[in-house]
Amino acid sequence: MTFFITTAIDYTNGVPHIGHAYEKVLTDAIARYRRMKGEEVFFLTGVDQHGQKVQQSAQKQGVAPSEFVAGLTEKFLALWKKLDISYDRWAATTEPVHKRCVQAMLQLLWDNGDFYKARQTGHYSVRQEQFLTDKERGPDGEFGPEWGDVVVIEEENYYFKLARHRQWLLDLIDARSAAGRPFVVPEFRVAELRNAVEKLAGDLCISRPKSRLEWGIELPFDSDFVTYVWFDALSNYVSFAGYDPAPGADQSLFRSRWPAIHVIGKDIMIPPHGIYWPIMLKACGFADDDIPSLLVHGWWNISGAKMSKSLGNSVDPDVLADTFGVAATRYYLLSDIAIGRDADFSEERLIQRYNGDLANSLGNLLNRSLSMAKRYREGALRKPESSPLAGFVSDKVADYGRRMDAFETQAALESAWEIIVRCNAYVEETAPWKLAKDPASADKLDEVLYTLAEALRVISILITPFIPASADAIRLQLAWDGPVHMDQCGWGALADGHRLGDPVPVFPRIET
Ligand code: MSP
Repeated sequence: MTFFITTAIDYTNGVPHIGHAYEKVLTDAIARYRRMKGEEVFFLTGVDQHGQKVQQSAQKQGVAPSEFVAGLTEKFLALWKKLDISYDRWAATTEPVHKRCVQAMLQLLWDNGDFYKARQTGHYSVRQEQFLTDKERGPDGEFGPEWGDVVVIEEENYYFKLARHRQWLLDLIDARSAAGRPFVVPEFRVAELRNAVEKLAGDLCISRPKSRLEWGIELPFDSDFVTYVWFDALSNYVSFAGYDPAPGADQSLFRSRWPAIHVIGKDIMIPPHGIYWPIMLKACGFADDDIPSLLVHGWWNISGAKMSKSLGNSVDPDVLADTFGVAATRYYLLSDIAIGRDADFSEERLIQRYNGDLANSLGNLLNRSLSMAKRYREGALRKPESSPLAGFVSDKVADYGRRMDAFETQAALESAWEIIVRCNAYVEETAPWKLAKDPASADKLDEVLYTLAEALRVISILITPFIPASADAIRLQLAWDGPVHMDQCGWGALADGHRLGDPVPVFPRIET
């Protein structure tokens, strides 16, 4: 079966920032690792192009929404290319295949009696074009100035009978935890979701009258309305994977992929991914085992505060990659945040991690190992009977695999770095420059040189999901062109007589 992984689709009413980049790089590392295990992977990502905010932003710029989203979509596409994101399918919600699928899902739910039409009276912000609830009231009980004129209006809309699935969802969450495959990873967020589901009371408004929002997917059963942007956006996970809700449709391709694991930020777990989406799928007839799990990551903040363009503290990953390089950007985003937790972004920290871990630890290890092999043996290795680090390396590879399987990417990187740190210490302990002066130590010197090259070969595989281009560059210098596969992490693949390439710096220091 395919390993199907998706990321949240990015809003095209905003520009990409490092939060978006983190999510893509994280998903990319997991997808690349799964491919290295020999699994077939379907990695889906894209852009969320409809909705009120897009319509408003386009209006402000005086362009058609389609033109507005096309421009921003280009930015995201170019950035993911620059950052080496190996997605298999691009999901843009204006694509006909998506629109057809969303309309078929809406029709199915309408036919099944999951929707009803009702008139709602409530406080409506004219400026923000949305209904307000008590949550939007300030401490004084009034709606703040950010809402502009607030009027009481009456509007007819379609509602999805959400609350009747409350108990089913609670049972599903509990059953998944009991079976040891939590609905939400990391598991500490399960309780948070469960509490929210406990409180689930109302139904979900899934329509917007065209009189106030035109930029959306039309309801197939009432052309005066478009569907709510979350109903549209969430459906991308199935529409781009080949799902067709029509009875009797060929589902074989879709079945071979589904279910997916959705990689999302903590802000969009409740309610969309943790409540609306499983209930939408359930109502469409999906079995419990086919309800996808969520991998929920934390947030990158700036000095503890939320990053936003309006606060002027948003970090542009494009500029970051141009200034410090793709390896530095990817490595920092993956090494300095634990899965599920928040972290503070800082350029000093990025430079520190890059210079410390990549330029110093790994870069020096590569450089000194290749230089010594060249100086003492013209780059040719002699394969020893055994190696003192073979057991240590295989233990670390096992740790790495366990951690990657559990989506603990940062911890997996640490396992790889333990090998690097151990190898650097091994160079100091064995002092090959002294061995080289003593002909009686020739065998020992061969053992050291082989051990270092072989460890570097394994390291190059382990870092591939994180910094793929640098890993390729290292393999080129090691002159090893074997398959980049987890089953190549076993000790001893470099043959007796293997000739290493010349050392070329892969991680030049960032000077400040
Ligand atoms: N369009 C919706 C998702 C629809 S999925 C069917 C959306 N878009 S978004 O552009 O606002 O966010 C995209 C992803 O980036 C979300 O998973 C969100 O959590 C993540 N991040 C946004 N800001 C972030 C940080 N500062 N840090 C880490 N991730 C953050 O939500």
